[in-house]
Amino acid sequence: MATTSHQYGLRLFVLSCALVGSVLCKDLQADTHHTIEVSSLLPSASCKHSATKGDAKTSSLKVVHKFGSCASLGWSGPSIKQPTHADILREDQSRVNSINSRLTSKAASVAGPNRVRQSDASIPARSGITVGTGNYVATVGLGTPKRELSLIFDTGSDLTWTQCRPCAKYCYQQKEPIFNPTASTSYGNISCTSSACSQLSSATGNKPGCSSSACVYGIQYGDKSYSIGFFAKEKLTLTSTDAFDNFMFGCGQDNRGLFGGAAGLLGLGRDKLSIVEQTATKYGRYFSYCLPSSPSSTGHLTFGKGTSAATLKFTPLSTISEGASFYGITIQGISVGGKKLSIPASTFSNAPGIIDSGTVITRLPPTAYAALKKAFMEPMTKYPTAPPLSILDTCYNFSTYSSVSIPKVGFYFSGAGEVDLDSNGIMYAASTSQVCLAFAANSDDTDVLIYGNVQQQTFEVAYDVGAMKLGFAPNACA
Ligand SMILES: *[C@@H]1O[C@H](CO)[C@@H](O)[C@H](O)[C@H]1NC(C)=O
Ligand SMILES: *[C@@H]1O[C@H](CO)[C@@H](O)[C@H](O)[C@H]1NC(C)=O
Repeated sequence: MATTSHQYGLRLFVLSCALVGSVLCKDLQADTHHTIEVSSLLPSASCKHSATKGDAKTSSLKVVHKFGSCASLGWSGPSIKQPTHADILREDQSRVNSINSRLTSKAASVAGPNRVRQSDASIPARSGITVGTGNYVATVGLGTPKRELSLIFDTGSDLTWTQCRPCAKYCYQQKEPIFNPTASTSYGNISCTSSACSQLSSATGNKPGCSSSACVYGIQYGDKSYSIGFFAKEKLTLTSTDAFDNFMFGCGQDNRGLFGGAAGLLGLGRDKLSIVEQTATKYGRYFSYCLPSSPSSTGHLTFGKGTSAATLKFTPLSTISEGASFYGITIQGISVGGKKLSIPASTFSNAPGIIDSGTVITRLPPTAYAALKKAFMEPMTKYPTAPPLSILDTCYNFSTYSSVSIPKVGFYFSGAGEVDLDSNGIMYAASTSQVCLAFAANSDDTDVLIYGNVQQQTFEVAYDVGAMKLGFAPNACA
């Protein structure tokens, strides 16, 4: 049987290595390949609390995958439908399409018919960025007394909002009790005439509305999800020592969409109203996160520089003119199995690049993806292939293997040199019989290159927005 001889091939190689001189042989392999236990590719049913470096920091929040076993801890409400891998990847493509229409001249201007309404406030809606389903949540405290709310965190948007009672129009089902402003002594409306209210235009892309002198916000996402409600001030508690009075947020009275049980959204973008700007005096526009590699483990979101021991490799952050919320980056090359691919420099310079916490799969210019795929497939010919999984076209069937060896993949960021991806950032597993190369091609070389969250997993990703640089350090969480 073919699979048996593959196994023998692998064993023979390991055996001959052992005979030749284990240290040298292991090092050679470790430089160019990852050895992965196939069973570790799939998430476990129970939440493993990893003691991450972030735990020791006072300004760290726990981060979990939206649909993972760690997200449902202590929750006994009705079950929220889990998306399939095909759903996640389809929603991911929808987010990528919305980012491209926002950032490139292909942007559709949204006018007249596409308006969202709430009482006497009518808001012209700009087509927003799709939230997607493959993303992460962090838990914050809101109000006095404090209520815990799990919010999807998004580096691609700015306004923080949560569903609010009385849900005048509609609230979707969420895991925690819906925030009730009348039960909080620190809640306050923002008036329509305040300058904060007018800032909503840039943060949401929509002009604010007014309802009995209370400022009304509306934010629409690309997948027709939206939130409309009162723009308000409230006490935001991030950790036991860090709280912010008068944090400006959206108190949503009409909320619809695929937020998967999360209470709302935490906007980590670059606009004035984002949490990064609103907490700037304390944290100096510095935040970092570690996205866990599996839905059954936890990571962290940390505000402020703290005493980060991690040795970060820094690359400059840039501003994308059409998408001021986004964090622009420059990628200059890719390596596979320790060898830098020969991809023309113009392939990368012709595509604007961003890093995004809400896009799952990294999107590459087709020319770069083709080179990556070709180089990756060469050492993988010993494994049986599997059918494509949605946007992922290079898949393998590992069901008869207990461990596999895959080539390492590295990205060259401007100024940072090579960042060697964790093995979790290379393969996306639907099951052990369908494990796919976790990258996809854009449809055009000028589309936006997006560095997605699968590739960021287990790295400390540090945003030093004050100094306009982005840092990476490996092995910051499991
Ligand atoms: C906020 O404004 C709305 C609409 O005018 C009103 O119903 C609500 O009572 C106000 N809340 C506070 C605390 O002022
Ligand atoms: C994977 O391989 C196993 C064993 O050869 C086979 O039974 C199964 O149908 C394959 N699955 C896919 C998706 O190719």
